[in-house]
Amino acid sequence: MSRTILRGRVLSFHRAPDGIDDKDSYLYLEDGAISVENGTIVAVGAFAGAETGDAAIIDHRPHLIMAGFIDMHLHYVQSHMMASYAGSLLDWLNTYTFIEEQKFAQQGHADAVAVDFYDALIRHGTTTAVAYCSSHPRSVDAFFAEAQRRNMLMIGGKVMMDRNAPEELLDTAQSGYDDTKALIARWHGRGRGLYAISPRFAITSTPEQMEMARALVAEHGDCYVQTHLSENDAEISYSMELYPEAPDYAGIYEQYGLLGSRTLLGHSIHLNHRETAVIAETGSVAVFCPTSNLFLGSGLFDRERLLKHGVRIGLATDIGAGTSFSMLKTMDEAFKVLQLRKQSFNPLASFHLATRGNAEALGLAETIGSVAPGRAADLVVLDARATPTMRMRMGSVETIVEELFVLQTLGDDRAIAEVYVAGARAKSTLGGL
Ligand code: GUN
Ligand code: ZN
Repeated sequence: MSRTILRGRVLSFHRAPDGIDDKDSYLYLEDGAISVENGTIVAVGAFAGAETGDAAIIDHRPHLIMAGFIDMHLHYVQSHMMASYAGSLLDWLNTYTFIEEQKFAQQGHADAVAVDFYDALIRHGTTTAVAYCSSHPRSVDAFFAEAQRRNMLMIGGKVMMDRNAPEELLDTAQSGYDDTKALIARWHGRGRGLYAISPRFAITSTPEQMEMARALVAEHGDCYVQTHLSENDAEISYSMELYPEAPDYAGIYEQYGLLGSRTLLGHSIHLNHRETAVIAETGSVAVFCPTSNLFLGSGLFDRERLLKHGVRIGLATDIGAGTSFSMLKTMDEAFKVLQLRKQSFNPLASFHLATRGNAEALGLAETIGSVAPGRAADLVVLDARATPTMRMRMGSVETIVEELFVLQTLGDDRAIAEVYVAGARAKSTLGGL
């Protein structure tokens, strides 16, 4: 059995940091060794004490090795339409998104976009993501097949949408159910793939489709559920018109049994007290998408209020309303959104959230999100001196916490020196780059 040792500075979180001085929340090794066998981390410690034996040693010094980033919400089918000039959410959906997603009806289109999408994830250091596909089952096949080729742990599903969009994109309550069921059978638990039942949002699902989503969730309790919640004022008003009997927007999903510890609620910006309480009680996850929320002018996520009420939180790009695949840029914009809220979000908290925090939110902390024995060797190697500006700034950096803040504030895909997926080099082996 061949063993590889990755040498470099190593950072990994044990738990959420309790403030910027909380050194007990993480492991930091100045000269560390990560031993990898069969795609899994088998030992982590100081290089000086490592059993090197006949292991191949890959020296990444002076770079920093961490768990690969996890992106909790994005639309892979929108990869080719990022940066489309728009006003707010509903205009953007109708003008660009619903047009773009119709292309996935064509044979071959999904396969090509999936390749571009995974290349982009890897270039940016993201090793796991939770994605919306289009309403076409073949978009889901392309998504999971390409993940399997790359041995990546990916979560995704076909969007269920049976109204308020162009005819070509619509399923029906019955076909959405049947297609989802067949896709779960085909992909959930195959390789590293996991399925997310994905009613797009209340506006595009009839009550009949919500009933079908309820049935799917009841029948497949080990699948995730993903949808959008409370992103934009016009979206909220329209949702309440469509579901007049619901107490509020979260109440729509609650009525159909869609909230729970495997439910990921994209955006969750404008929540009332009752919604916050029910999201906390059910253990659902509010997913913060800062670049998207700024791009569409949707609003400012209220992290402190949600944490105070015990809501679980994830962090995500929300491509293609999100403006970067980079989780570094996403942390940077999260910091700025919270600055506007007069809330602090220190770099330990942001790097924790993009790695172990998101893994915990997915219930996958035993598998991914940290550098520890038994975890998959899904890793990112970060270079805080990747650009002239970063080098200039790093001249006066003395601590790992300062370095993290430089990485998130000034870094992007240029700061990703290497990526490992299940122990195999994934960035330097990308074709054509
Ligand atoms: N709400 C429903 N669909 C979408 C989408 O594709 N992007 C965003 N940002 N919000 C949505
Ligand atoms: Zn979204």
